[in-house]
Amino acid sequence: MPLKEFRTPVTNKPVLVGTQSGKDNIIFAIESSCDETAAAIVTNGREVISNIVASQIKTHIEFGGVVPEVAAREHLEAINLVIARAFETADIKADKITAFAATVGPGLVGSLLVGLNAGKALSIAYDKPFIGVNHLNAHVCANFLNTDLEPPFVALLISGGHTQIIEVKSYTEQNIIGETIDDAIGEAYDKVARLIGLPYPGGVNLDKLAQTGNPYAFKLPEAKLNSEYDFSFSGLKTASLQLIQKLKKESVDLPKADIAASFQENVSSLLLKKTKKAADNINAKTIVLAGGVAANSEIRKKFFALEKSGYKIYAPEMKYCTDNAAMIASSAYFLANTMDSLEIEVFSRM
Ligand code: KG4
Ligand code: ZN
Repeated sequence: MPLKEFRTPVTNKPVLVGTQSGKDNIIFAIESSCDETAAAIVTNGREVISNIVASQIKTHIEFGGVVPEVAAREHLEAINLVIARAFETADIKADKITAFAATVGPGLVGSLLVGLNAGKALSIAYDKPFIGVNHLNAHVCANFLNTDLEPPFVALLISGGHTQIIEVKSYTEQNIIGETIDDAIGEAYDKVARLIGLPYPGGVNLDKLAQTGNPYAFKLPEAKLNSEYDFSFSGLKTASLQLIQKLKKESVDLPKADIAASFQENVSSLLLKKTKKAADNINAKTIVLAGGVAANSEIRKKFFALEKSGYKIYAPEMKYCTDNAAMIASSAYFLANTMDSLEIEVFSRM
């Protein structure tokens, strides 16, 4: 069971963190890996006391995507206010915090540095341990927030940067069963959204439009791969582009909703098919969705329909699917892949 002894940075006092620590752990966490500046306070990895997110969507809309340098500057402007709000909303003083945590990577380096340095500074100022958190593990841990979920389970991690089927054996042991060999699913969503002229952020806008279209209007291809649990989305992206170009040449009004619905049908069936196969192969009956794309209406619908066949399905509440700091606090508590030195540096890729 997870338990780790951390040290405070100034007086070097031992502090136990984790499920076996014998007392409540109140973790203050910061997330700044991409375009949300977030801070949260979570007790024992599950009970969210406060959860503040400042989104940069308005800024990035005019560029049609996230501009790293602009994102980093926005984090700098928002971070102190977001931290103060997290304390205020929870009505907790810093001396009650067990440990401070922040995302270390993967993500945009300039953005990560803002949150990581703020977390380290809080840890030194209040002489509490600092815990560096892997953003991907944290997305999976979003499923522990306000639930009774416990490992083992199979997780489908679908975000802007990653697509993985993971066997979560215990809180700290994981095994990647399959992953994308090229684009991440969120990237594919955002690219196809741009091709049909939808504004940033593409994924959620494509999802909305797809709900009004015919999912069987166009047949898009499925990549043939050596491993039945791996994914490839670059061919699908090209096929979508070719379909859009062909329809434009035929000078019909672009049937945007039908294209969106056909794309969504293609990827949601594929994710379901592969994840179910992977779960069946290891006799897992609990399947967990994680990451920003887990907010997708059709993907949620298809997976939750498995409950009729005896599977137990979990997906984070919408606000915990996309980037937030509550999931970072949960991950710090459950200790999967955490780093505990003030020396740790940010990293952009796994
Ligand atoms: O997990 P996340 O917030 O950030 C990363 O760690 O990457 O995921 C962001 C991704 C973006 O690609 C966004 O378009 C996608 O999640 N997304 C969606 C939906 N909501 C967010 N994709 C499809 N349908 C949605 N409803
Ligand atoms: Zn994320």
